[in-house]
Amino acid sequence: MLKVYRGELLHFLADPAKVALEESYQYLADGLLIIKDGLVEQIGEAAELLPTLDKSVEITHYEDGLIMPGFIDTHVHYPQTEMIASYGEQLLEWLENYTFPFERQFSDLEHGKKVAEFFLQQLLEAGTTTALVFGTVHKESVDAFFTVAQQKKLRMICGKVLMDQNCPDYLSDTAQSGYDESKALIERWHNTDRLQYAITPRFAPTCSREQLNKAGQLLSEYPSVYLHTHLSENKAEIAWVNDLFPESEGYLDVYDKSKLLGRRSVFAHGVHLHDSECQRLGETDSSIAFCPSSNLFLGSGLFNLQQAQKFDVNVGYGTDIGAGTTFSMLSTLNEAYKTQQLRSEKLSPFQSFYLATLGGAIALDLEGTIGNFTKGAEADFIVLDYHATPLMDRRMQHCKSLSEKLFILSMLGDERHISATHIMGEKV
Ligand code: GUN
Ligand code: ZN
Repeated sequence: MLKVYRGELLHFLADPAKVALEESYQYLADGLLIIKDGLVEQIGEAAELLPTLDKSVEITHYEDGLIMPGFIDTHVHYPQTEMIASYGEQLLEWLENYTFPFERQFSDLEHGKKVAEFFLQQLLEAGTTTALVFGTVHKESVDAFFTVAQQKKLRMICGKVLMDQNCPDYLSDTAQSGYDESKALIERWHNTDRLQYAITPRFAPTCSREQLNKAGQLLSEYPSVYLHTHLSENKAEIAWVNDLFPESEGYLDVYDKSKLLGRRSVFAHGVHLHDSECQRLGETDSSIAFCPSSNLFLGSGLFNLQQAQKFDVNVGYGTDIGAGTTFSMLSTLNEAYKTQQLRSEKLSPFQSFYLATLGGAIALDLEGTIGNFTKGAEADFIVLDYHATPLMDRRMQHCKSLSEKLFILSMLGDERHISATHIMGEKV
């Protein structure tokens, strides 16, 4: 079954930081996106492709809107949805005072399903079609999330949190129970429909060496699952890690010693990395989730994107709800731009939209599957509306280039500017 969408089309083909700008993207002022059985069949100029189509094919025309691949959120906590905007603390106190008590409720499968339903609705309204998601320590939290994501036919990655020390008893597993429960969840969910599993040690302070080693063992037993954790987010956290793991040469090395780095390993934050750590992330093809709204909200610091690029580390954006303060990827682009301004660096709109789409897909090792309109990719896409708010509408009247259009979208845009979200070609 063919589905055809017509409108202004943009997607990325390569990293604008690595190739000439014109080679990094394809832009069609009046294009067609042809979808067959939920997958991209072809993309091209409307004038060229329209005559090749059968007269009976129905065409949905998005006039005056920009069609692009769905956004990819490479780090987010669904159980923290209802505790977003908790006042006043930096990371460690924020975890203890707000987060841990809150995550307790997710031993209840039904509670998890209700929150997952709301969370996924929020993501879709913000134009995010794939995410790498933390559950809680409870296996029920992952069953709940995947059950709802499966009903919605979404490509989602999630995992049960591993934490066996420096946390409340009610949130603690053991190295063995964490291993056993993760294994059972992998067997039940990994590669079921569009769902994939991530082994999820919370962060080094809450994981014993035995637990990290068991995570490494599991990763070697299931090489196609992900590894998802936090890294070098906050200075007090880093000092604590150095105390807890004196045998390691820094934070990343704690994970490295347990064999947790690799192509499907995603480390959230990495705000305070040494060059040697960035180099190690690059050579192991690991990824960083850059979470600007969270880094600003918790006062964690300003991510060094140039350092990551210098060592060829894969980078995607994360909202990191509930330390992040928005589900919107457009708002996340806004915060990323300002973060880089505070570092006296320019983050171009092309680079930023690349990171939100193809860059995110590469960070998740899903290039070719999501993130752009390459033939055979899953047709998860969104339509951006330049006129959804009077302010953007006015500003757009003075806009002279694609670059400027994208920049305005990223500075003034939010959920209101996502006029449609499509999953496997179907509007949701
Ligand atoms: N480090 C360990 N756990 C968390 C969490 O839930 N959120 C953030 N932002 N950092 C963490
Ligand atoms: Zn996080």
